[in-house]
Amino acid sequence: MKARGLIDLYSPTPKLLHMAKSGCSFILVELLLLLQCLSHLGHGYDFFYFVQQWSSSYCDTKRSCCYPTTGKPTANFTIHGLWPNYNNGSYPSNCNKNSPYDGTKVSVLFSRLQVNWATLACPTNNGTKFWSHEWEKHGTCSESVLDQHSYFEATLHIKDKVNLLQILEAAGIRPDDNFYNVEDIKEAIKAGTGYAATVECNSDPSKNAQLFQIYLCVDASGKDLIECPVIPKRKCNSSIQFPIF
Ligand SMILES: *[C@@H]1O[C@H](CO)[C@@H](O)[C@H](O)[C@H]1NC(C)=O
Ligand SMILES: *[C@@H]1O[C@H](CO)[C@@H](O)[C@H](O)[C@H]1NC(C)=O
Ligand SMILES: *[C@@H]1O[C@H](CO)[C@@H](O)[C@H](O)[C@H]1NC(C)=O
Ligand SMILES: *[C@@H]1O[C@H](CO)[C@@H](O)[C@H](O)[C@H]1NC(C)=O
Repeated sequence: MKARGLIDLYSPTPKLLHMAKSGCSFILVELLLLLQCLSHLGHGYDFFYFVQQWSSSYCDTKRSCCYPTTGKPTANFTIHGLWPNYNNGSYPSNCNKNSPYDGTKVSVLFSRLQVNWATLACPTNNGTKFWSHEWEKHGTCSESVLDQHSYFEATLHIKDKVNLLQILEAAGIRPDDNFYNVEDIKEAIKAGTGYAATVECNSDPSKNAQLFQIYLCVDASGKDLIECPVIPKRKCNSSIQFPIF
């Protein structure tokens, strides 16, 4: 009887009510999908890893390295890349075959790139190969936000803001072949930048673990450091060498 009463209550317009209800939620779902779609079109990724490397450790990893045509890079951290990443840990790559690296778009940045985004790959070259690899594999995946020129400029700008060498030296951590506690390195970077970093190590020819790369995270606009939504899984020992370059 009670159930009947309920049905009776709605009986004047049960169909209309049902349509209105499902119609509304249908529109709501559509709207959410549309928003999701738009945000995906806007980015196609969630954040960036900003990765800097220590040149002498790179040379050990590759077992050999070649100074660029412009000569031995300064003893400083250099950029490896700015890599779009998803919050689920995976990352997009090679997103647009129709957007090859074009040196004319970044030529005003060459002198800064040569210093801060130096190539150490062999044979000796002028960096074009490294920058085109980084653009084509990673940069094309954030192209909707940063075009080619903006991508390189934004990356250089972040490096200028994050003077890792100075931050570490302020904490007494220097590239002097001594061994340092990796937790002290992370603490210094946190104190200097405000954000947690991931340290990646490799081994030198005598199997000493050494500081190789430092990962920080940058928001999808490519402007500001953020806490990493996903901590990259990278190997390191508790005590690591910071080699002279
Ligand atoms: C991670 O998220 C992206 C974007 O939403 C998606 O395309 C990709 O398939 C996801 N990967 C995994 C392993 O879940
Ligand atoms: C670098 O070298 C390549 C050929 O190896 C050349 O096409 C390119 O113009 C050079 N770029 C610069 C900036 O010197
Ligand atoms: C190292 O690079 C930073 C930018 O990240 C720059 O501010 C600093 O002057 C450089 N230091 C040396 C010793 O070249
Ligand atoms: C890292 O530490 C482990 C355990 O302490 C040690 O066996 C290994 O040799 C170390 N690796 C390097 C490269 O120092």
